[in-house]
Amino acid sequence: MEPFVLRSAEVTLSVPTAVDVDRVAQVCADPEIAAWTVMPSPYVRADAESFVTRTVPTGWAEETMFTWAVRAPGSVDGPVLAMMGITRKMGAPGQEQAGEIGYWTAPDARGTGLTTAAARLAADWALDPEGLGLERLQWQAFVGNWPSRRVAWKLGFRFEGILRRYRPQRGVLRDSWMASLLPHDPREPSEPWPTEASQP
Ligand SMILES: CC(C)(COP(=O)(O)OP(=O)(O)OC[C@H]1O[C@@H](n2cnc3c(N)ncnc32)[C@H](O)[C@@H]1OP(=O)(O)O)[C@@H](O)C(=O)NCCC(=O)NCCS
Repeated sequence: MEPFVLRSAEVTLSVPTAVDVDRVAQVCADPEIAAWTVMPSPYVRADAESFVTRTVPTGWAEETMFTWAVRAPGSVDGPVLAMMGITRKMGAPGQEQAGEIGYWTAPDARGTGLTTAAARLAADWALDPEGLGLERLQWQAFVGNWPSRRVAWKLGFRFEGILRRYRPQRGVLRDSWMASLLPHDPREPSEPWPTEASQP
């Protein structure tokens, strides 16, 4: 599939290109991104270059991973503010009907609602029968990542629980939260925000 642009009044999502390598490398050196993702740490320019010039185009070409750079509204080549991805699950038969959403946002663009707006566009496309047509979109985060959980919660993802020692992060299995969104789920919170949540 050729990469395409998703737009709303709040954000533009367009494929990251070689021009974005330095900005991606700079943002991904952020300690919060290292703490909550499985990306390399320390993150160096070669990691960004490999991601943008190989991982991203391969994902689109093979239709296994769909990655967009999130930019300001109306700009398909402005500075990268965040990264948004939908990964199709592969493996057992039928698994390809499920996918996972993932994102990071530059520290200077956090807390603006931009991530939620971008995730909404990507999730809607992933679950639209005329888009990717997934039956299930899941979200996973390491336990304690409340900002990420809040984004998923606002989109209507339903919390499914804790998967103990589920996902490896640089060689260590960490407990993960799991939530999912199905095509006909309302795109609004489906349950009260947990009282045990930390505050922004
Ligand atoms: C997770 C992340 C993408 C969220 O980005 P963001 O731009 O802050 O997202 P938004 O502004 O759209 O929404 C964040 C929400 O979380 C809330 N929030 C922020 N910190 C919080 C905290 N510690 N506890 C509870 N809620 C929190 C914000 O108030 C906001 O909610 P609101 O719009 O109702 O006020 C960003 O923090 C990030 O890049 N983190 C590091 C990488 C990461 O964790 N990626 C996800 C891996 S699963």
